[in-house]
Amino acid sequence: MDNRCIGVFDSGLGGLTCVKEIMNILPEENIVFFGDTGRVPYGTRSAQTIIKYTQSDIRFLMEFNPKLIVIACGTASSTSLETVIPQFDVPIIGVVSPSSHAAAKATKNGKIGVIGTNLSINSGKYQQEIKKINPSFQVYSKACPLFVPLVENGYINSPITLMAAEEYLKPLCDEGVDTLILGCTHYPLIKETIRKVMGENVVLIDSGKETADSIKDLIDNGEISFAEEKTQDKFFISDKVQSFKEMAEMFLEKEIKGSVEKIDIEKYMV
Ligand code: DGL
Repeated sequence: MDNRCIGVFDSGLGGLTCVKEIMNILPEENIVFFGDTGRVPYGTRSAQTIIKYTQSDIRFLMEFNPKLIVIACGTASSTSLETVIPQFDVPIIGVVSPSSHAAAKATKNGKIGVIGTNLSINSGKYQQEIKKINPSFQVYSKACPLFVPLVENGYINSPITLMAAEEYLKPLCDEGVDTLILGCTHYPLIKETIRKVMGENVVLIDSGKETADSIKDLIDNGEISFAEEKTQDKFFISDKVQSFKEMAEMFLEKEIKGSVEKIDIEKYMV
C-alpha cells in the first residue's frame, strides 16, 4: 500500500481527460494535477523548449513526493519522456506507448491514423512505437494544430470545430484507417465532432484513458503500490484560476473540492 500521490501534468485542460479516467478506475488514488495554462500551447514550440517545460513541470510535482509521474500530454510525451526518465528518481510514464498498444490491438485492417499537435506528429514517436509493435502496420499521421486552441477556448460542439475536423480528418478517412489515435489529450474533449467526421466504424483511441488503464496495469503487476486512503486531490495551474475551474469541472463532470491554486512555474526552470 502506498498513499503517496500520482502527479499528472499537461499543458492545459487536456490532461484532465486522463485525470477523469484515473478517478473512475482508481478512485482511491490521490492525484496532484498541474495544468501549465500560462504556457499552453506546447505543440507549436520547439522540442528543446518542451523538454525544459517538462523538466520544470516534473520538478514542481516532485514537491509532493509522488509515487508516479504521468505525462498526460502527447506533445511532452513524444519529445521529452526519454530525456526525463533518467533525470528523476520516480517512475515516469507518457501517453504514446499505451495508446499505440491499444491501437495495435484494435485495428483489423492494419491501417492506423494518428492525430496530434505539430510537435507530436513531427517527432514520429507514435509511428515508431506502432511499427515496433508490428512493422507491417501502416500509419497515417496528421497534425491538427487548431484543435488545442479550440478546446482551450471552449469551442467543444461548435461548427468551427466541425469545419476544422473535416479539413484535418478527411485525408485519413480517404486512406481507410479503421483506428484513430487521439494522440493529444485535448482531443477526447471533441470526440463527438471527430466521430461525426470519421464515422461510427472507426475505433477512436483516447490516449488519456489508455494511459489511465496502464497505471492500473502497473498497480496490478506490483510495479507501484495502490493507495488505500483518498485524501484531497490537488489542482494547480500557471495562469488564471477562475476560467480553469469552470472548464475543469465541466470536463471532470464533478465539482473540484479544495482549491485550484496558481503557481509560478518559472521558479522551477533552471
Ligand atoms: N494536451 C497536449 C497534448 O497532448 C496539448 C499540447 C499543446 O498544448 O499544444 O499534446
